[in-house]
Amino acid sequence: MGGTNSTRDGTDMTGDLDLLQQQARDHLWMHFTRHSTYDPAQGGAEVPVIVRGEGAYLYDAHGKRYLDGLAGLFVSQLGHGRTDLAEAAAKQARELAFMPLWSYAHPAAIELAARVASYAPGDLNRVFFTSGGGEAVETAWKLAKNYFKLTGKPGKHKVLSRSIAYHGTTQGALSITGLPVMKAPFEPLVPSTFRVPNTNIYRAGEVTSGLLDGSDPEAFGRWAADQIAVAIENEGADTVAAVYLEPVQNSGGCFPPPPGYFQRVREICDEHDVLMVSDEVICAFGRLGHMFGAERYGYQPDIITCAKGLTSGYAPLGAMIATDRLMEPFLRGDTTFLHGYTFGGHPVSAAVALANLDAFENEKVNEHVRDTEGDFRRTLEKLLDLPIVGDVRGDGFFYGIELVKDKATKESFDDDECEKLLRGFLSKALYENGLYCRADDRGDPVIQLAPPLICEQEHFDEIEQILRTVLEKAWAQL
Ligand SMILES: Cc1ncc(COP(=O)(O)O)c(C=O)c1O
Repeated sequence: MGGTNSTRDGTDMTGDLDLLQQQARDHLWMHFTRHSTYDPAQGGAEVPVIVRGEGAYLYDAHGKRYLDGLAGLFVSQLGHGRTDLAEAAAKQARELAFMPLWSYAHPAAIELAARVASYAPGDLNRVFFTSGGGEAVETAWKLAKNYFKLTGKPGKHKVLSRSIAYHGTTQGALSITGLPVMKAPFEPLVPSTFRVPNTNIYRAGEVTSGLLDGSDPEAFGRWAADQIAVAIENEGADTVAAVYLEPVQNSGGCFPPPPGYFQRVREICDEHDVLMVSDEVICAFGRLGHMFGAERYGYQPDIITCAKGLTSGYAPLGAMIATDRLMEPFLRGDTTFLHGYTFGGHPVSAAVALANLDAFENEKVNEHVRDTEGDFRRTLEKLLDLPIVGDVRGDGFFYGIELVKDKATKESFDDDECEKLLRGFLSKALYENGLYCRADDRGDPVIQLAPPLICEQEHFDEIEQILRTVLEKAWAQL
């Protein structure tokens, strides 16, 4: 059955709300969504329908306002409602709506590739566009395998990644992902991926099986990095192609790198000729106050994968950025990287990205994040006076707040409690109180925060106050 007479104009939508709800329930398969929560027959709520955005705020179909505490999904760096980005899209669509990058090029992709390369550290000069982050992750793995086949090390194909880390949902990216529960329904996945420990220093005792307590961050970082060397040696260096690491690991609730961690990883990768892939799908384009997270933490990857903030969400786009060395074998004779996506580097998306990066420069977005990140941290740290808040961690405009049952022992919630607390209460209550963000229990339960990069103290305060109200209620209900 095709769609009926629904309107797509937010201002006219209120009269059609019932129809929209019905159509959502009957036809829209939402992503990572437990659909029973929206089924009236199972006591479900209505589907939250967002119709409009303005600055740091979102508005639902009833006209209610929400602070966008997650920049959509770590995407809306410049916030919502920017006419300059919308106009850049319209202009490009009028001029050249589509042309693939399959042996042809268009000016927007060329200019954007040069621009992105100019920001990327070192000789990360070669930009392969994709439609999103997962495709960039896939592309990097395929490049790693192909590169080693062309350069006399054909056995190098395996990938290491960190425990609990999320790298996407396509079969290769999911295989690299370190979340067994998310992978189980789709096994067997692509073989040849292995986990190494993450840098959760709050739970350093658990991560190191009691070896370190996290009081010496440098020692913990050294230990965590050295586990990558152990894994490479266990697998055999001649079989390992790459290690995937986010500058700040999102899943599990924002694990920044301990001092020296990435420098040690770089040494290990050099020693074993393993490619270091910095998965910056979240961390690039201002989230940490720099164009790339690698810049913030002072390391040089072989590949960067990015997406999301590249366009601030005004159009979909991702990219894999590789060093000159990695492209070199593909520049000779009849060698071809047999890989591509119809919509990778779409002209409209590339034009939007250029306008987005112009705004980053003109409005000093990275500087703003660096100037105010301390205020954001201090405001969130006020929540540490609540008994349920165990840890507040992150960098830039990217934070995780870990919830615990017992602060002294760091005891976490069991599965039933997580179900009741996160799904049964917190997610709904935060939204009802006007804060769109995410309560996540892929690792220990955390609230994830990544607001648009235009936020100021008034937004930080609003986030803190809503969290305080809701977390106090959550604690009282336990
Ligand atoms: C670190 C990381 N890598 C890859 C992805 C996958 O990106 P996408 O959803 O655009 O495919 C994500 C998505 O959140 C991510 O956070």
